[in-house]
Amino acid sequence: MEPAMQRKMLTIVMGLASLLIAHVNGETSLPFDHQKLTSDGHYLDQMQKMQAFKHSLLTRRQLATPPTISSSPAPAPQATNQPPGSRPSVYEVTTYGADPTGKLDSTEALLRAITDAFNGPSEGFLMKGIKNLGGAHINLQGGNYLISKPLRLPAAGAGNLKISGGALTASDDFPTDGYLIDLSASSSSSSSYNYEYITMKDLMLDCNFRGGGISVINSLRTSIDNCYISHFSTEGILVQNGHETYIRNSFLGQHITAGGDPGERNFSGTAINLMGNDNAVTDVVIFSAAIGVMVSGQANTLSGVHCYNKATGFGGTGIYLKLPSLTQTRIVNCYLDYTGIVAEDPMQLTISSSFFLGDAFILLKSINGLAEGINIVDNMFAGSDKGIEIVQLDQSKGPFKKIDQVVVDRNNVKGMTLKATVARGSVKGNGTSWTVDFSPVLLFPNLINHVQYSLSSGGATFPRHALRNVSGNRVVIESDIAVPASVFVMVEQGSAS
Ligand SMILES: *[C@@H]1O[C@H](CO)[C@@H](O)[C@H](O)[C@H]1NC(C)=O
Ligand SMILES: *[C@@H]1O[C@H](CO)[C@@H](O)[C@H](O)[C@H]1NC(C)=O
Ligand SMILES: *[C@@H]1O[C@H](CO)[C@@H](O)[C@H](O)[C@H]1NC(C)=O
Repeated sequence: MEPAMQRKMLTIVMGLASLLIAHVNGETSLPFDHQKLTSDGHYLDQMQKMQAFKHSLLTRRQLATPPTISSSPAPAPQATNQPPGSRPSVYEVTTYGADPTGKLDSTEALLRAITDAFNGPSEGFLMKGIKNLGGAHINLQGGNYLISKPLRLPAAGAGNLKISGGALTASDDFPTDGYLIDLSASSSSSSSYNYEYITMKDLMLDCNFRGGGISVINSLRTSIDNCYISHFSTEGILVQNGHETYIRNSFLGQHITAGGDPGERNFSGTAINLMGNDNAVTDVVIFSAAIGVMVSGQANTLSGVHCYNKATGFGGTGIYLKLPSLTQTRIVNCYLDYTGIVAEDPMQLTISSSFFLGDAFILLKSINGLAEGINIVDNMFAGSDKGIEIVQLDQSKGPFKKIDQVVVDRNNVKGMTLKATVARGSVKGNGTSWTVDFSPVLLFPNLINHVQYSLSSGGATFPRHALRNVSGNRVVIESDIAVPASVFVMVEQGSAS
């Protein structure tokens, strides 16, 4: 490396280091006024006097006058080296009286912290009408908080906020149609979206078999990262309208199990319900639910998703694409473990580089008879020699009528039955007719769009020969004179009509 370059690199590294330090300060520091109080000797005195008034003080506090007392059992604030004039926006929920032991109901305390964060300083706007809360952070401080009502964000029109670092448990009277964290707006805003850039990170959500985990309604650029969501009765995560909710590195299950659960037959609920567009589910495990991921919006992508929720044999589904003719879904590098994929009238669907274990298969379900722009390629399927086909059709509501650009090919199979839209075969015989029967392998019945063949004959005569029939996915080649010959055939179905 040249010296000039080295200097440049060093500057960059130092720049990064100072960024890191700034970040660490931002994460751990207390509001500025805490520090002032702590450093003058009267802090404890004041705290005791003010305890009596804590509840009146704890309502609608602005950041300019941050919480100055801790309700038991919150720890006393610590002094930090916060530079004067800075205004860190960390809202530590025990300071608001939330009980980190999970014994007392912390709903109101948590809602006060959230309200303060929303009313805290903001720096301009993100999307039009969405004020920028400047990275406000609601810190759950590693506690477990009992809540009896959804933590619903107060008003639409704010963003750049993080909730992280703790556990929430629904109480026995939590509303069964609620979500522990609810990003639906309790009032409307001038923005066309409710929220933007809300991050929920490092959270354990226990829905106590009442309601769901997180609902994200009409929001933009939402992040759900490293969350563990269990005991939901409706949905682990619901995403409705909006754009770009990114769910990653998370674990969801109705029941806490590592597979082979005796109650598996009874699993219910949906782990992730995507009723919006442009979302991504990345590196997520779904260990129990009737449906792992339900998709009814467009342009969603699922990658690294491991579904071992309720097995297909018990009526479960790993990934259900319920959006006839607007599919536009990419499922790549996923692991479907005893539970498969169902796609209704798929239109633009890619399923590739995925692993299907335990007779898991892909079901294409006809609603209006459309199957267009489908690539099911380069997957692995493993089963138990029961003859289960890797891709199946459900035509109980009518046959697929419009089949175009469908490629099911290059999948490998162990202990299951291969199905494809591209196939090769050969037959050897002595006579005037050669038939290669592709019906066991071709996915769609009685559909061959393309045939290529060659006839190889070593005899003294050169016969004239022709393709005569493809009916029933059986390719028939005939010659004018009897010859000993081998016929090699390649067929395709579902390619451009
Ligand atoms: C499954 O549900 C049925 C009916 O609700 C119940 O009788 C049965 O005990 C449950 N099985 C398990 C293993 O939980
Ligand atoms: C092919 O069949 C013809 C007539 O049936 C017979 O004469 C001939 O020996 C056969 N050739 C081979 C290679 O079996
Ligand atoms: C093709 O084969 C089918 C089934 O054997 C038969 O019904 C049909 O008449 C054949 N078509 C032609 C053009 O020979």
